[in-house]
Amino acid sequence: MTDPSRGATDPLTTWHRLAASCVLLDGFHALKHAVRFHARVPVAVTTDRGAALALADELAPDVRDTLDTLLTEVPDDAYRALVPRPHPTGVAALAERPSRETNLETLRRTPRTAPVVVLDNPRNLGNAGAVIRLAAGFGATGVVTTGTLDPWHPTVVRGGAGLHFATAVERLTVAELPPGPVFALDPEGDDIRGLKLPDDAVLAFGSERTGLSAELRARTDHLVSLPMRPQVSSYNLATSVAMTLYHWSATGGASA
Ligand SMILES: C[S@@+](CC[C@H](N)C(=O)[O-])C[C@H]1O[C@@H](n2cnc3c(N)ncnc32)[C@H](O)[C@@H]1O
Repeated sequence: MTDPSRGATDPLTTWHRLAASCVLLDGFHALKHAVRFHARVPVAVTTDRGAALALADELAPDVRDTLDTLLTEVPDDAYRALVPRPHPTGVAALAERPSRETNLETLRRTPRTAPVVVLDNPRNLGNAGAVIRLAAGFGATGVVTTGTLDPWHPTVVRGGAGLHFATAVERLTVAELPPGPVFALDPEGDDIRGLKLPDDAVLAFGSERTGLSAELRARTDHLVSLPMRPQVSSYNLATSVAMTLYHWSATGGASA
């Protein structure tokens, strides 16, 4: 959604006014996804409008006109001063973070047509971003993290490729988890191949370092494992989420 109040204000002034309260969309693809999923984008800059709009013509004709309205060309050094490291597409934008209340309403609404993914005290920002991208791709209701990691950290947003706006992303305590049967993934659980995961499932995954917490285990209704040879200890967190969401979709879950 474009901001009609943008008017003729210098984009760099707008950027500096909003940078602390907004989410950085780093690169063309992040901006494209955010716009597709109705993020409110008050400012977007590029070092080369022609190149950015050519990319839009090629890869995102559905949002081309919106990007044409949003993007302002700025000098290369001005762009470089706005971002931690320049993106090959020379595009950056700021988006307003959806309100916590709206996300909580989405997460708590029942009946649900797609699972909520819970990352129990994840440690790796890249994993969290990859999981948000997966959740968006499979149409999951949301991604909840417990623990100290901020799922809206700039590195997570970068890993999520702008798809934080396509699913409800929030940090909650285990006690605040959304309603629904908790299926927790652990190598000691029942083989997932014998199970159908319901659309209202809460799919929980443990920390990269220590697995599922005692608190999460206490909330668990079903402990589920992914097929794995005995000599292998565990899979990476994000790949475990990928296999589980794929299993949900392949066994009758809402189509992706
Ligand atoms: C990297 S693993 C955690 C390894 C950790 N050292 C432990 O003690 O469990 C991260 C999470 O991915 C999921 N996972 C990894 N391999 C799995 C498997 N074979 N079956 C089910 N879940 C798995 C679990 O939720 C696990 O807590």
